Amino acid sequence: MRTSLQVHHHASAEELDVALARFVATRLSEALIAWGEASLVVSGGRTPTGFFQQLAQQPLDWSGISITLADERWVDESDEQSNARLVRQHLLQGPAAAARFIPLYHPAATPQDSADAACTALDTLDDAFDVVVLGMGDDGHTASLFPGSPQLDAALHDTGKPCLAVEASKPPRDRLTLTAARLRHAHHIVLHVTGQTKWQVLGTALASGPMTEYPVRALIQHEHPSRHVFWTA
Ligand code: 6PG
Repeated sequence: MRTSLQVHHHASAEELDVALARFVATRLSEALIAWGEASLVVSGGRTPTGFFQQLAQQPLDWSGISITLADERWVDESDEQSNARLVRQHLLQGPAAAARFIPLYHPAATPQDSADAACTALDTLDDAFDVVVLGMGDDGHTASLFPGSPQLDAALHDTGKPCLAVEASKPPRDRLTLTAARLRHAHHIVLHVTGQTKWQVLGTALASGPMTEYPVRALIQHEHPSRHVFWTA
């Protein structure tokens, strides 16, 4: 059965953040009731801060929730570019601090050694993620699946390791990313974007073009029962 991509349009970023936080909280609550635990994957960048702050205020049994990242820059958490730093500053606050956070970055000799350590940590989340929330760049990348990256083919098609070290097209260039296959192994996939430019890029990505040109296609064009776009102009 083909399922459609569900589009949730909101008049402002603030309204969008609240709506997305409520959507995610509801899905996590459903998982907690059904399985006694829940897992959430979030992304970094500039877009999610308000969403994180709203989600942190949602009345959830955070002690039953595991949170990890779709991708990470290969920097220590003390670095302002760290996605783990962003999550700890804006999401793991108040009651939400009781959630189990699984960062991707680990001090290691090489980015792939760090990715391998992340793989080991992620093995404790061997079921499907309950919710995956992704951002998108103006170039159609999502997580750290960047067009033109030497490791893009592996990140799009490998089904072995859930986390790979990749080279991004913008600094910081060394990154860690969950693979498309691991990100798709989820009950609900959400793309969170703001601005007309990204909306137009998304329209182009959905209309045509290879996944290598628009890696976001690998997540939201792929047949999946619960795919959502939350956006505002
Ligand atoms: C990262 C993110 C990345 C982000 C997009 C959009 O590490 O930067 O995971 O995939 O979602 O680049 O970033 P903005 O929200 O800053 O536009």
